[in-house]
Amino acid sequence: MVDVRHILSADQFTPEFILEFMDRAERCRDNMRSLQGRHQLRLKHAGKLMFTIFYQPSTRTRLSFGAAGNHLGLNVSPTENARDFSSQAKGENTKHTIQVLCGYYPDVIVLRHDVTGEVAQAASYSTAPIVNAGDGKGEHPTQAMLDLFTIYDQTERLDNLRVLMGGDLLEGRTIHSLIRLLSRFEGNELLFMAPPQLMLPEELFALLRERGTAFKVCEDPDEAFASADVVYWTRLQDPARYPHLRSNFVIGLEQMGWMRSNAILMHPMPIDSRAPEIKPEVESDPRVVFIEQAHNGLPVRMVLIDWVLGGW
Ligand code: NCD
Repeated sequence: MVDVRHILSADQFTPEFILEFMDRAERCRDNMRSLQGRHQLRLKHAGKLMFTIFYQPSTRTRLSFGAAGNHLGLNVSPTENARDFSSQAKGENTKHTIQVLCGYYPDVIVLRHDVTGEVAQAASYSTAPIVNAGDGKGEHPTQAMLDLFTIYDQTERLDNLRVLMGGDLLEGRTIHSLIRLLSRFEGNELLFMAPPQLMLPEELFALLRERGTAFKVCEDPDEAFASADVVYWTRLQDPARYPHLRSNFVIGLEQMGWMRSNAILMHPMPIDSRAPEIKPEVESDPRVVFIEQAHNGLPVRMVLIDWVLGGW
């Protein structure tokens, strides 16, 4: 069987691949800034077909994948809210869905699913490349690539970084994938801050030990913030279940005051404006980069789609 280029886990990317990818994402972002650059990119995969199927809510991932596909010349055929509007609402399983869709000759299928591991399952039935756009509490590899690109863009390196990760480390899949990428590079140290019931899954601690990546579970917030090059904050995935934890993990002026002047504050978004974990009054601080981070999703996903389609 020919080699199908799925994107399922951040672990599939080697450091060599990642470094080449950084270079390509930077060039793609530059090219997108000019009309001529955008015109050339549109010719790259003209006429190919992309399905995007989302069984969970999404704004950035869904629309940046759609835009990335369109900017590369693909025809994008989307199903949003697939839980209600696809045949899975009638009880169809993923196997049948994917087997049928493959008969419509898509060149790539972007899939977000609420069940952990279901996207990898889908790939096992698919003759077309499958891109994991988030699976349950599992992984979100393309988000991790845009997070890593943002770190590279802002700090000019991927190694010897101290990265503080806070919020819901148990169920936040963006964190799970980003850890897999950061642990591939020398000298990185990961600091974790979360309530005990939302601490990182044991499996990821085991991975860090196995790779020899330094890490620390932090008790002292001011010390942790003060030592970080990058602060990566996340929302509670299930706030209704843990309403009492919400106020514990809010970044305001005090926390920004602990951060180094050249550190950055990232967040994969969304931020719930009804009870934001990053207070609106800190958003104008130049160290807060979550909008740039989200914008990087476009060139990053373009380069990843280009790879999946055999463009490099
Ligand atoms: C994340 C996700 O869906 O995992 N959103 C995103 O894709 N940027 C983060 C989240 O929902 O908390």
